Amino acid sequence: WAGAARGVDPFKIVESDMRSLSAGIKSLLGSDHPVLEACAKYFFELDGGKKIRPTMVLLISRAVAAHAPAQGVNGSRAFTSTSESSTPLPSQKRLAEITEMIHTASLFHDDVIDEADERRGVPSINKIYGNKMAILAGDFLLARASVSLARLRNIEVVELLSTVIEHLVKGEVMQSRPQALVDGSGTGENGQAALEYYLHKNFYKTGSLMANSCRAAVLLAGGGDALQNQAFAYGRHVGLAFQLVDDVLDFEQTSETLGKPALNDLRQGLATAPVLLAARTFPDEVGDMVKRKFASEGDVERVREMAFFSIAMTSPRPRYNSSYLGTLL
Ligand code: FPP
Ligand code: MG
Ligand code: MG
Repeated sequence: WAGAARGVDPFKIVESDMRSLSAGIKSLLGSDHPVLEACAKYFFELDGGKKIRPTMVLLISRAVAAHAPAQGVNGSRAFTSTSESSTPLPSQKRLAEITEMIHTASLFHDDVIDEADERRGVPSINKIYGNKMAILAGDFLLARASVSLARLRNIEVVELLSTVIEHLVKGEVMQSRPQALVDGSGTGENGQAALEYYLHKNFYKTGSLMANSCRAAVLLAGGGDALQNQAFAYGRHVGLAFQLVDDVLDFEQTSETLGKPALNDLRQGLATAPVLLAARTFPDEVGDMVKRKFASEGDVERVREMAFFSIAMTSPRPRYNSSYLGTLL
């Protein structure tokens, strides 16, 4: 977004590549069962969301192509892209579709787990079709994404994206069984163990898809290990930052501005970054609330106030532009 402020809009760079994305996905989701097809296509028909993951894949693809000759000298393999055009390869465009399909599948399941009735300002899939269909539609999306992945005929890319699916599940399980958070209550040794557990969980939940799909985009262009590692690190860092901001927005915005339920993490009993920060300032009180999952009357409001107080006391102040980032989630 610093780039956007200077007039470089990452979404503009990939605008033409993105035009065909939803159509490409919809063509992969045909089924002879009309309800299954309608569920799976739900978000793609609406064409909502900023599609940050495919945007990252396409940006990395363009960056790799633009720098192909220089990197080819140092890289372990010759590039298949050329410097004449930085247009993503067809396989990279396919990869961009796959990332959005996996992400959407995980949201279908997530809204069931979180009992959310709204997403992107419209009713969630579970709200419209019920929990069972939402889960099955998520499975169907994953299945079709897997077929598309296999058709790339690149076994390393299949391995990377399959690992992402494992990580998404692992992140969700870590979140629902936060042993380190409960045991340490976010308070021990300045809450370090709880913070590390939380960030580890965030990598699985959000960072892995961005990191591994960026790595896969480089792989598809024939880029070597060094460039793959850089692309992975880029995706990982954006993913970790993204989830931190998502967790702060849950605290500070309303359901109207978010297009999904606000304060939902607390209502689900989840201790995210703002809670961990509050625990540093008010260890005993926040620790007790974490243990009882904010279930007592007034807990949600109280911990929210404590988090705001702790953020206000934190130096340097956070410098992200939450209204811009809010449009990406
Ligand atoms: C959104 O988080 C959810 C995720 C980033 C991952 C969810 C993963 C699963 C439910 C595991 C199953 C995975 C697959 C691939 C089917 P959030 O609830 O914090 O964000 P939100 O505020 O947008 O709901
Ligand atoms: Mg959720
Ligand atoms: Mg969730």
